[in-house]
Amino acid sequence: MPTAVDWVGQTDRDFENALTLPGRVYWDPAVFAREEQQIFGKDWLCVGHVSRLASPGDFFLVNLGRESVILAADKQGTPHAFYNVCRHRGTRVVNDASGSCRLFRCPYHDWAYGLDGRLMSAPNMEETPNFRREDFPLREVRLELWNGFLFINLDPDALPMSAVYDDFPDLSYLNLHRLQRVGYHHYDVDANWKLICENYNECYHCALAHPQLHRISVDREYPDLNHVGKHFTGGPMAIRQGFNTMTTSGVTDRAPLPGWKDSDKDMVMYFNLYPNLLLSIAPDYLLTHYIWPTGPETVYIETEWFCATEQIEQPGFDPRDAIEFWDTTNRQDWGLCENALRGLRSTGHRPGPYQSWETCVHDFDRWYVRRVFACQD
Ligand code: FES
Ligand SMILES: [Fe+2]
Repeated sequence: MPTAVDWVGQTDRDFENALTLPGRVYWDPAVFAREEQQIFGKDWLCVGHVSRLASPGDFFLVNLGRESVILAADKQGTPHAFYNVCRHRGTRVVNDASGSCRLFRCPYHDWAYGLDGRLMSAPNMEETPNFRREDFPLREVRLELWNGFLFINLDPDALPMSAVYDDFPDLSYLNLHRLQRVGYHHYDVDANWKLICENYNECYHCALAHPQLHRISVDREYPDLNHVGKHFTGGPMAIRQGFNTMTTSGVTDRAPLPGWKDSDKDMVMYFNLYPNLLLSIAPDYLLTHYIWPTGPETVYIETEWFCATEQIEQPGFDPRDAIEFWDTTNRQDWGLCENALRGLRSTGHRPGPYQSWETCVHDFDRWYVRRVFACQD
């Protein structure tokens, strides 16, 4: 049996000489356990747009493997993230996926926690000598806001987002935090989570798999503008002449997002912030995917569409053209990823070469190899 590093050594080479990842990393539970530890236990994970916590008392849960995290806005509207674990005997405190409340009440013995995590009441605990409520708040998970998105990190020693993504292009001119959600879908896909990222990071498959997308978008314009960051990859793709957005018709009379540069009017920007955020910015809307592995061979994917208030307030505003277009494209992609996994499970699979449009796939794979296999623990 080769060692883990032998499996992936051919991927961690310069692009011209590299081979794709071995099939095993897409289905082996032992590899997945390592990913849970080295990636999902240590990296910044995007849990959604800040508008999910728009009002005091708003909360939602993020479940990842054996972890469950409560995201909540306190009385002042400040966002928090907490382990969903009671400080009494460890019960899962919150079981609704989302909602609005004033207190989190543990369903076992009714300990009640404030929106800021403080333990507010604990029935009959005055009978326990030395018990002090202030010693038992919900345990905080690290939380940061980045361009209007909430990110959590389960590693108390992780570098801050500002250091991890310090080479990411400046998007502040788009004021993404001000956007409003106009659409939401979620999908359960029978594929490994890395296949979703790899598929997003190339358009070599677009002509064959996405005729509706290929009609309005050029596969390989601007390859020189691709970014290879420390923790992300991506870049712009061109919208063909005669079209002005990525929708079913390819044409919209929606105004561009406020701040959108005129020089970018024929571009769509695609970024994969490793590991779990796909950020797709069309001239007139924002699309996000959040990738949550539920096992080595299954993944839960949430998709959100956003527009600006100024656009939404226009008479006749209707974002369905963007939502339907990407729902179609998403389902085509999920089918490709599920079929890829079927082949990767075979004992007959061997790593293959990357095509020249797949530099971003190689970048993701190389980041992955180094993140999961180059570290000793
Ligand atoms: S376990 Fe939560 S109150 Fe007892
Ligand atoms: Fe695709």
